[in-house]
Amino acid sequence: GQALTVTKLKKMKRDGEPISVLTAYDYPSAKLAEEAGIDVILVGDSLGNVVLGYDTTLPVTLEDMIYHSRAVRRGAQNTFIVTDLPFMAYRISAGDTLRNAGRIMQETGVQAVKMEGGADIAHEVDTCVRAGIPVMGHIGLTPQSVHQIGGYKVQGKEDADVRRLIEDAKALEQAGAFAVVLELVTDQAAKAVSEQLSIPTIGIGAGTNCDGQVLVYHDILQYASPYREKRFVKTYADLGTTVREAIGRYVRDVKGREFPESKHGFAGAGQEQQGAVY
Ligand code: KIV
Ligand code: NA
Repeated sequence: GQALTVTKLKKMKRDGEPISVLTAYDYPSAKLAEEAGIDVILVGDSLGNVVLGYDTTLPVTLEDMIYHSRAVRRGAQNTFIVTDLPFMAYRISAGDTLRNAGRIMQETGVQAVKMEGGADIAHEVDTCVRAGIPVMGHIGLTPQSVHQIGGYKVQGKEDADVRRLIEDAKALEQAGAFAVVLELVTDQAAKAVSEQLSIPTIGIGAGTNCDGQVLVYHDILQYASPYREKRFVKTYADLGTTVREAIGRYVRDVKGREFPESKHGFAGAGQEQQGAVY
């Protein structure tokens, strides 16, 4: 099918149609997500954790995000793709933010970028949107600030925190963001923010009241994700076990001379060829 647009995403909220978002980081994950009918692919800087093996997202670079986004684009040519701006690719100055967001758009062919922050980055969001770059916001638990926050903690427990989340979300909407991710916030906070915005909220660990949901590819597939089990993740397959056992069988076959068999080899002239032709 045809890729969504920011206009269609906002219409999905008005129509009450839930928006499905999944992360992907390379050609096969993107291809499978598109074939499965996902609405939006996020090339998240969570690739730092689940693909590159870092403890946090802070070491992820703009070059990393561009490299992975290009592969995702090749795998999912008809899906709306959003790429995270990594730590330090924004918040320096609006000019730097625009230059970096512009590089992502120009060098990868994705349709939008995402930034962590609220009212404090509204000016940078506005600068990108005016230049024609759609921006998704991201508030609540913002992993690039994990050291400032002091851990991966649920946000929006006190009334004052809920009020601040609403103000941040409204500032992003005002600045022209087309959607806002709500990460690890209470049900009540997500409900209040979702009701007060005309743009969709995309929840992760944000309860049942968001306009869409996002989860991490490696988490829902249990694909060697380094994370402990998380309350907000539902797992749909156990690829880690499947892959580990498959590789184990391959190793045993090689050690036991069970693989290769004659059908896996190539016959010379005048000899009978078995098996599939290469
Ligand atoms: O990097 C990421 O995967 C994200 C989602 C969890 C929203 O930002
Ligand atoms: Na992210």
